[in-house]
Amino acid sequence: MKIGILTGGGDCPGLNAVIRAVVRKGTFHYKDEFIGFIEGWRGVLENKTTTLDLNSVSGILPRGGTILRTSRTNPAKKADGIEKCVAVLKQNNLDALVAIGGDDTLSVAQKIHEKGGKVVGVPKTIDNDLAGTDFTFGFDTAVNIVTESLDRLHTTAEAHNRTIVVEVMGRNAGWIALYGGVAGGADAILIPEHPFDIEKVTAALQQRHARGKLFNIVVVAEGAKFAASADGQASLVTNAAGKDEFGHERLGGIANVLAAEIEKRTGFETRAVVLGHVQRGGTPTAFDRMLATRYGLGAIDAVHNGAFGQMVALRGNKIVTVPVSEAIAKNRTVDSDAMEVVKGILEQVG
Ligand code: F6P
Repeated sequence: MKIGILTGGGDCPGLNAVIRAVVRKGTFHYKDEFIGFIEGWRGVLENKTTTLDLNSVSGILPRGGTILRTSRTNPAKKADGIEKCVAVLKQNNLDALVAIGGDDTLSVAQKIHEKGGKVVGVPKTIDNDLAGTDFTFGFDTAVNIVTESLDRLHTTAEAHNRTIVVEVMGRNAGWIALYGGVAGGADAILIPEHPFDIEKVTAALQQRHARGKLFNIVVVAEGAKFAASADGQASLVTNAAGKDEFGHERLGGIANVLAAEIEKRTGFETRAVVLGHVQRGGTPTAFDRMLATRYGLGAIDAVHNGAFGQMVALRGNKIVTVPVSEAIAKNRTVDSDAMEVVKGILEQVG
């Protein structure tokens, strides 16, 4: 078979491990040939391709980013964009396309599938917010980076009797904040799913001080919101840069707003740290390399089983396939089981 591969949306540690696994199993076991589309759906729209073979995927397992580069291009926003994509797949004599991405990339994959394109999806995002799978690859790496950062911030916060507010990514899901915050021993964890009451947050920090703990670490997800304000709106802090092609607002800035508010209300010297894209860069953890490799192997098998319109997924410890339509139907946000961990470990939640 001749198979195309693309990586779309925000980059994520483990993308190269997926590409490598698809190409290696496809070459060794199925005698497939591969091309890569450059920069996600942009590469399909513009028919920008590169050959992928055993040599081009050699040495990429520990590398972050993606050798195919990526973009947030949305063909559905261009005139006849989806039809154009289907035509380019035909023009390249492709028997299938493996699309590695999050809900945005996979929503385009679904549209192409509906127009007769043969696409298999692979779930990627550090946010871990894709439905249909227990975990996306990249999430574990991001959580490890947050955890290590919190370990480091603890010692400097303690040395200066400071409160440090640490902003982490995750868009509208609190998974990174919750896992990173619990693993890094945060004193407060604020997530988008539960708008927080600033008075309760500061009360919890003051209680710590009363116990003799003169420093605090507060983890706040970029999409966390202050509980309903006087005008009844839950306030979300966004960046002035506007929306991307998939209609997402660029989040960011809540750590600065919250740090100022905490300092004003408590008198504790407070600093804000925004971890930002550090969470997405660099080498994947062993867990993510393994998961990404298993997804890649599952994807090439899915192609040969004719499982088009499906996405590989982790359920328990098994790699299965689920309809892409299921994965993109809704975001997977923090559930009550995960919240129980936060409630158990912290004196005050939100
Ligand atoms: O979806 C992954 C993610 O890193 C989000 O957590 C974050 O809100 C967004 O991408 C940032 O996007 P960009 O890299 O385009 O600034």
